[in-house]
Amino acid sequence: MKKRVLSGIRATGRLHLGNYLGAVRGMLELQNPPTGGPNYETLYMVADLHAITTPYDPKKLPQNTREVILDYLAAGLDPEKSILFVQSQVPEHTELAFLLSSVVSIARMQHLPTYKEKVTQYPKENTMALLNYPILMASDILIYKADKVPVGIDQEPHLEVAREIARKMNSKFGTDFPEPTRFATKGEYIPSLTGEGKMSKSIEGSYINLTDDLNTIKDKIARVPTDSGKGVSVPKEGGVKVLFDLIGLFLGDERRDKYQNQYTKSGIKYSELKPELAEAIYKELGPIQKRREELVNDPKYVDGVILDGAKKARKIASRTVGEAKKKIGLL
Ligand code: TYM
Repeated sequence: MKKRVLSGIRATGRLHLGNYLGAVRGMLELQNPPTGGPNYETLYMVADLHAITTPYDPKKLPQNTREVILDYLAAGLDPEKSILFVQSQVPEHTELAFLLSSVVSIARMQHLPTYKEKVTQYPKENTMALLNYPILMASDILIYKADKVPVGIDQEPHLEVAREIARKMNSKFGTDFPEPTRFATKGEYIPSLTGEGKMSKSIEGSYINLTDDLNTIKDKIARVPTDSGKGVSVPKEGGVKVLFDLIGLFLGDERRDKYQNQYTKSGIKYSELKPELAEAIYKELGPIQKRREELVNDPKYVDGVILDGAKKARKIASRTVGEAKKKIGLL
């Protein structure tokens, strides 16, 4: 039996390096050999329903959804190997989410750190949709009986909820949901370019987009706060740590270790390190941007991918909902 993989990214527009390193690289690893490949059935979606749980512009949502599909395809997710789809086009996700909500307490949802953060961010938008966010996410995963979920470390509390729901459903109704685990990449936590917190779309100045050109990347890296370039030990937080982390991810651990060594000995020159890092990031993003441009010019192909993905996903999803309804006593 093939193992299933499911992941998704909210439809909030173009992806940033955090999304790419924490999620997309993992999606690619599980889609392709040697780690993944034919032993896995990979399903990757755009979470447009999750995008409406916080303030958004309905006029921009369709385009934002499409941007994620374009980034997926450009980064190498391949519709010949993976099912690529839009969450709301598989209405079974919301149907199963309601069924799953019958085994989840309100208190459990209210205590999740991710929920609390959003309520602090948008105190006037404390909605039922937001409270239900983790249940819908559990449904996204369990509906495909997925074992592995390539996501960043910030999503771990949501995966814990998905496992709890699977256990409760299985013991109460005799369903056979597997308990999904996170598939981690080396970039499971990408810090913000400001040196504080994580890289995030909602924090201006914190991120590099996959579509940023070389000059933009150079500018953004140039603005990362640094120090004199020398110290008794390697910084464990702040801008310098961000630079070292990104060097490890784009130039390799050896290069990072070399710079870190220099930091505690002769000292480093950020005027050399920063442009080298910016070039390395662009070296990886450049080919993605080229493919993206070709895809933007072929809207029919992209439409076909989305349509086909929904069809394939619904086939699996409707089977699971049917099974669950029977066990619950609804059919
Ligand atoms: P979202 O849109 O917030 O984030 C998408 C993915 O990007 C990862 N990520 C990061 N990884 C490392 N460092 C960062 N700074 C960083 N910022 C974002 C996130 O961990 C995530 O993997 N709830 C999900 C969307 C979702 C989903 C699902 C995921 C909906 N249903 C089912 C998996 C399975 C989310 O918040 O995505």
